[in-house]
Amino acid sequence: MKIAVYPGSFDPLTLGHLDVVRRAAAVFDRLVLGVLVNPHKDGPLLPTDERLAAIREAVDAELPELAGRIEVAAFEGLTVDFCRAHGATALVRGLRAVSDFEAELQMAHMNRALAPEVDTVFFPTAVEYAYLSSTLVKEIARFGGDVGPFVPPAVAVRLGRRGPEEPRL
Ligand code: PNS
Repeated sequence: MKIAVYPGSFDPLTLGHLDVVRRAAAVFDRLVLGVLVNPHKDGPLLPTDERLAAIREAVDAELPELAGRIEVAAFEGLTVDFCRAHGATALVRGLRAVSDFEAELQMAHMNRALAPEVDTVFFPTAVEYAYLSSTLVKEIARFGGDVGPFVPPAVAVRLGRRGPEEPRL
Protein backbone atom coordinates (compact mmCIF):
# COMPACT_ATOMS: atom_id res chain seq x y z
CA MET A 1 0.00 0.00 0.00
CA LYS A 2 1.38 3.40 -1.01
CA ILE A 3 0.98 5.93 1.81
CA ALA A 4 1.70 9.64 1.40
CA VAL A 5 1.73 12.51 3.87
CA TYR A 6 0.52 15.95 2.81
CA PRO A 7 1.94 18.30 5.46
CA GLY A 8 1.04 21.94 5.93
CA SER A 9 -0.23 24.67 8.16
CA PHE A 10 -3.68 24.58 6.52
CA ASP A 11 -4.43 27.84 8.30
CA PRO A 12 -6.94 27.72 6.74
CA LEU A 13 -7.46 24.91 4.22
CA THR A 14 -8.21 26.45 0.80
CA LEU A 15 -9.82 25.11 -2.37
CA GLY A 16 -6.28 24.81 -3.74
CA HIS A 17 -5.31 22.43 -0.92
CA LEU A 18 -8.47 20.41 -1.50
CA ASP A 19 -7.61 20.09 -5.19
CA VAL A 20 -4.16 18.72 -4.27
CA VAL A 21 -5.79 16.25 -1.85
CA ARG A 22 -8.11 14.97 -4.59
CA ARG A 23 -5.29 14.54 -7.09
CA ALA A 24 -2.82 13.00 -4.65
CA ALA A 25 -5.50 10.50 -3.60
CA ALA A 26 -5.67 9.37 -7.22
CA VAL A 27 -1.99 8.42 -7.04
CA PHE A 28 -1.66 7.06 -3.49
CA ASP A 29 -3.75 4.46 -1.65
CA ARG A 30 -3.81 6.45 1.56
CA LEU A 31 -3.18 10.14 2.21
CA VAL A 32 -2.47 11.56 5.65
CA LEU A 33 -2.94 15.32 6.00
CA GLY A 34 -0.43 16.43 8.61
CA VAL A 35 -1.54 19.66 10.24
CA LEU A 36 1.33 21.58 11.84
CA VAL A 37 0.30 22.51 15.38
CA ASN A 38 1.88 25.94 15.78
CA PRO A 39 2.57 27.26 12.32
CA HIS A 40 3.21 30.94 13.08
CA LYS A 41 4.78 33.01 15.79
CA ASP A 42 1.70 35.20 16.15
CA GLY A 43 -0.60 32.18 16.45
CA PRO A 44 -2.76 30.47 13.86
CA LEU A 45 -6.06 31.97 12.73
CA LEU A 46 -7.90 28.80 13.80
CA PRO A 47 -6.68 26.73 16.75
CA THR A 48 -5.48 23.22 15.94
CA ASP A 49 -8.67 21.41 16.96
CA GLU A 50 -10.77 23.72 14.77
CA ARG A 51 -8.40 23.35 11.82
CA LEU A 52 -8.59 19.56 12.13
CA ALA A 53 -12.39 19.60 12.41
CA ALA A 54 -12.76 21.97 9.45
CA ILE A 55 -10.48 19.84 7.27
CA ARG A 56 -12.30 16.61 8.18
CA GLU A 57 -15.69 18.22 7.48
CA ALA A 58 -14.46 19.65 4.17
CA VAL A 59 -12.99 16.34 2.98
CA ASP A 60 -16.15 14.42 3.99
CA ALA A 61 -18.43 16.96 2.27
CA GLU A 62 -16.41 17.75 -0.87
CA LEU A 63 -14.61 14.45 -1.50
CA PRO A 64 -17.00 11.74 -0.21
CA GLU A 65 -15.61 9.27 -2.74
CA LEU A 66 -12.33 9.28 -0.77
CA ALA A 67 -13.94 8.20 2.51
CA GLY A 68 -11.66 5.85 4.44
CA ARG A 69 -8.55 6.74 2.45
CA ILE A 70 -7.87 10.17 3.93
CA GLU A 71 -6.65 10.71 7.46
CA VAL A 72 -6.24 14.08 9.15
CA ALA A 73 -3.83 14.36 12.08
CA ALA A 74 -1.99 17.11 13.93
CA PHE A 75 1.77 17.00 14.31
CA GLU A 76 4.62 18.83 15.99
CA GLY A 77 8.28 18.46 15.16
CA LEU A 78 9.77 17.21 11.91
CA THR A 79 7.59 16.31 8.96
CA VAL A 80 9.83 13.33 8.14
CA ASP A 81 9.24 11.90 11.65
CA PHE A 82 5.50 12.25 11.07
CA CYS A 83 5.95 10.45 7.70
CA ARG A 84 7.83 7.60 9.40
CA ALA A 85 5.23 7.33 12.15
CA HIS A 86 2.56 6.84 9.48
CA GLY A 87 4.58 4.50 7.28
CA ALA A 88 4.57 7.04 4.45
CA THR A 89 7.13 6.80 1.65
CA ALA A 90 5.99 10.00 -0.08
CA LEU A 91 5.52 13.59 0.98
CA VAL A 92 3.07 15.63 -1.10
CA ARG A 93 3.36 19.37 -1.72
CA GLY A 94 1.44 21.65 -4.07
CA LEU A 95 3.19 24.09 -6.39
CA ARG A 96 1.30 27.21 -7.47
CA ALA A 97 4.02 29.03 -9.37
CA VAL A 98 7.73 29.05 -10.10
CA SER A 99 8.11 31.37 -7.11
CA ASP A 100 7.09 28.48 -4.82
CA PHE A 101 9.62 26.16 -6.36
CA GLU A 102 12.85 27.44 -4.84
CA ALA A 103 11.77 27.09 -1.24
CA GLU A 104 9.95 23.83 -1.93
CA LEU A 105 12.98 22.32 -3.66
CA GLN A 106 15.21 23.29 -0.74
CA MET A 107 12.74 21.70 1.68
CA ALA A 108 12.53 18.56 -0.47
CA HIS A 109 16.33 18.22 -0.51
CA MET A 110 16.53 18.75 3.24
CA ASN A 111 13.77 16.24 3.94
CA ARG A 112 15.49 13.74 1.67
CA ALA A 113 18.78 14.26 3.52
CA LEU A 114 16.93 13.60 6.79
CA ALA A 115 14.91 10.65 5.49
CA PRO A 116 16.11 9.17 2.18
CA GLU A 117 13.24 6.69 2.21
CA VAL A 118 10.68 9.51 1.88
CA ASP A 119 10.40 11.14 -1.53
CA THR A 120 8.72 14.48 -2.18
CA VAL A 121 6.08 14.51 -4.92
CA PHE A 122 4.88 17.87 -6.27
CA PHE A 123 1.44 18.50 -7.69
CA PRO A 124 0.97 21.68 -9.70
CA THR A 125 -2.19 23.25 -8.29
CA ALA A 126 -5.13 23.72 -10.62
CA VAL A 127 -4.67 26.94 -12.58
CA GLU A 128 -7.91 28.46 -11.22
CA TYR A 129 -6.43 28.29 -7.72
CA ALA A 130 -2.91 29.43 -8.63
CA TYR A 131 -3.39 32.82 -6.94
CA LEU A 132 -4.81 31.40 -3.71
CA SER A 133 -2.85 31.31 -0.48
CA SER A 134 -3.80 30.71 3.15
CA THR A 135 -1.98 33.94 4.02
CA LEU A 136 -4.25 36.03 1.78
CA VAL A 137 -7.37 34.19 2.89
CA LYS A 138 -6.35 34.76 6.49
CA GLU A 139 -5.96 38.47 5.87
CA ILE A 140 -9.39 38.66 4.21
CA ALA A 141 -10.95 36.81 7.17
CA ARG A 142 -9.19 39.02 9.70
CA PHE A 143 -10.73 42.12 8.10
CA GLY A 144 -14.18 40.59 7.81
CA GLY A 145 -14.10 40.02 4.01
CA ASP A 146 -15.92 37.22 2.19
CA VAL A 147 -13.71 34.12 2.03
CA GLY A 148 -16.50 32.01 0.49
CA PRO A 149 -15.00 31.83 -3.02
CA PHE A 150 -11.63 30.60 -1.75
CA VAL A 151 -12.29 27.96 0.90
CA PRO A 152 -14.64 24.98 1.29
CA PRO A 153 -17.97 25.83 3.00
CA ALA A 154 -16.95 23.99 6.22
CA VAL A 155 -13.96 26.31 6.55
CA ALA A 156 -15.95 29.45 5.61
CA VAL A 157 -18.51 28.66 8.33
CA ARG A 158 -15.83 28.36 11.00
CA LEU A 159 -14.07 31.53 9.87
CA GLY A 160 -17.43 33.34 9.82
CA ARG A 161 -18.19 32.22 13.38
CA ARG A 162 -14.86 33.60 14.44
CA GLY A 163 -15.73 37.05 13.09
CA PRO A 164 -13.33 39.85 12.17
CA GLU A 165 -10.62 40.81 14.62
CA GLU A 166 -10.92 43.85 16.82
CA PRO A 167 -8.65 46.56 15.44
CA ARG A 168 -5.52 47.07 17.54
CA LEU A 169 -4.97 50.79 17.84
O1 PNS B 1 1.60 25.09 4.63
P1 PNS B 1 3.02 25.46 4.87
O2 PNS B 1 3.11 26.45 6.00
O3 PNS B 1 3.72 25.92 3.63
O4 PNS B 1 3.75 24.10 5.38
C1 PNS B 1 5.10 24.12 5.77
C2 PNS B 1 5.49 22.80 6.43
C3 PNS B 1 4.55 22.47 7.58
C4 PNS B 1 5.43 21.67 5.43
C5 PNS B 1 6.96 22.96 6.94
O5 PNS B 1 7.08 24.13 7.68
C6 PNS B 1 7.40 21.77 7.79
O6 PNS B 1 7.66 20.70 7.28
N1 PNS B 1 7.45 22.00 9.12
C7 PNS B 1 7.76 20.97 10.10
C8 PNS B 1 9.20 21.10 10.60
C9 PNS B 1 10.17 20.48 9.63
O7 PNS B 1 10.10 19.31 9.31
N2 PNS B 1 11.09 21.33 9.17
C10 PNS B 1 12.11 20.92 8.21
C11 PNS B 1 11.60 21.08 6.80
S1 PNS B 1 12.92 20.92 5.69
